[in-house]
Amino acid sequence: MASYDVIVIGSGPGGYVAAIRCAQLGLKTACVEGRDTLGGTCLNVGCIPSKALLHASHMLHEAEHNFAAMGLKGKSPSVDWKQMLEYKQDTIDTNTKGIEFLFKKNKIDWIKGWASIPEAGRVKVGDDTHEAKNIIIASGSEPSGLKGVEVDEKTVVSSTGALELGKIPKKMVVIGAGVIGLEMGSVYARLGAEVTVVEYLDAITPGMDAEVQKTFQRILKKQGLKFIMGAAVQSCEVKGGKASVKYTLRKNDKEDQIEADTVLLATGRRPFTDGLGLAELGVELSERGQIKTGDDWQTNVKGIYAIGDAIDGPMLAHKAEDEGMACAEVLAGKHGHVNYGVIPSVIYTHPEVASVGKTEAELKDEGRDYKTGKFSFMGNGRAKANFAADGFVKILADKETDRILGCHIIGPSAGDLIHEVCVAMEFGAAAQDLAMTCHAHPTYSEAVREAALACGDGAIHA
Ligand code: NAI
Repeated sequence: MASYDVIVIGSGPGGYVAAIRCAQLGLKTACVEGRDTLGGTCLNVGCIPSKALLHASHMLHEAEHNFAAMGLKGKSPSVDWKQMLEYKQDTIDTNTKGIEFLFKKNKIDWIKGWASIPEAGRVKVGDDTHEAKNIIIASGSEPSGLKGVEVDEKTVVSSTGALELGKIPKKMVVIGAGVIGLEMGSVYARLGAEVTVVEYLDAITPGMDAEVQKTFQRILKKQGLKFIMGAAVQSCEVKGGKASVKYTLRKNDKEDQIEADTVLLATGRRPFTDGLGLAELGVELSERGQIKTGDDWQTNVKGIYAIGDAIDGPMLAHKAEDEGMACAEVLAGKHGHVNYGVIPSVIYTHPEVASVGKTEAELKDEGRDYKTGKFSFMGNGRAKANFAADGFVKILADKETDRILGCHIIGPSAGDLIHEVCVAMEFGAAAQDLAMTCHAHPTYSEAVREAALACGDGAIHA
């Protein structure tokens, strides 16, 4: 029986980061992973492969729509789907091998197989039982199903199947206008599919800033995506490789249906904790199946910790990474900390959408006095040069103290721009602090500064 200070279950961004940090802090560490490769959902069937397809399809979009205007003439590229999938696979491979390298470098044992926890202090993998002073569960999440819709990963796919379709569909129906639906819907729309998104609510991307939601939907419509809003999907029937999705319009209970070659079910994810033996151990779960933890990520069972998608909070790789580092620090006797108020969220469509902190709706609910500084990318020279002037930056700051409370961006490189606001928020900065910081010209980041200026005496280029 091998004996460790820490065994981490799961090698996604939560698990592998926790394992590396534990090892760096001098703890003898192993990580159990049942997949053939490390990296979890994010590297194998999530963030990383979807970004490869988003990048490739965006390049095609640029060639088709903007090259000629820039004086780049010639035949626009055609799609070699097989090669695009190979490119996606290469991207996955280099990333998953990178984690393997980091495990070796940090002397972390990869225990291959699926883990269960027979009791605190022990982890069983296959016929072997390993000892661990502490266990971190980082088992992630899986697509949550929808009653009446059976995923076969061929005609009706989850995000996993959507990354490796046999061919580009002519007609695609996406159920759910959340992050996955809009990212993957964008990919296939750019590659030539007629994409219709069926969404239960009246706005896309629930929880986002309302102005961003509206602008985002308008831009996606311009890109060719169609939307059926306020529609509750009831069932999906597959016959001869074609699907028929039945839905009810919430406003009048009218039933209708839409046909597709491929249906993507993207109605959310749920914690994946199957096979761990949590019920037998008495580990407390929430009604939604999330593992309950305290501030130190310890469950109600001493020595068993949990992080990432398996616990409460946004299901985001970087949130899991932060918890992984912080939990490792707690186990090493330090003070691990995650600032849940400053976790950015990004949608990698084109343009990108990014936000951090509070939305206007949340501030109104809290009754907090705030001011808004907004700046359109139309006033940003670099964005105009790059055909990327759609969108805006909006900064919300406390009316009295000017402290930054939130930021919402739709526009070029929004996912990178958001981070100067995250840093500012970590430092408790005022909008004026951003406004007084010299920003290089011409960059997209000037739009962030201008939004900060708009919280005070006014933006210059508006
Ligand atoms: P989501 O929770 O973002 O969106 C699901 C959507 O489906 C909602 O708009 C909901 O109203 C709708 N819906 C639910 N039931 C429906 C029904 N019966 N008929 C029609 N619409 C229905 O879930 P999604 O996109 O599947 O993503 C899952 C998780 O993965 C999220 O937590 C997300 O944050 C995370 N993720 C994050 C990414 C990123 O950060 N870029 C990328 C991909 C996933």
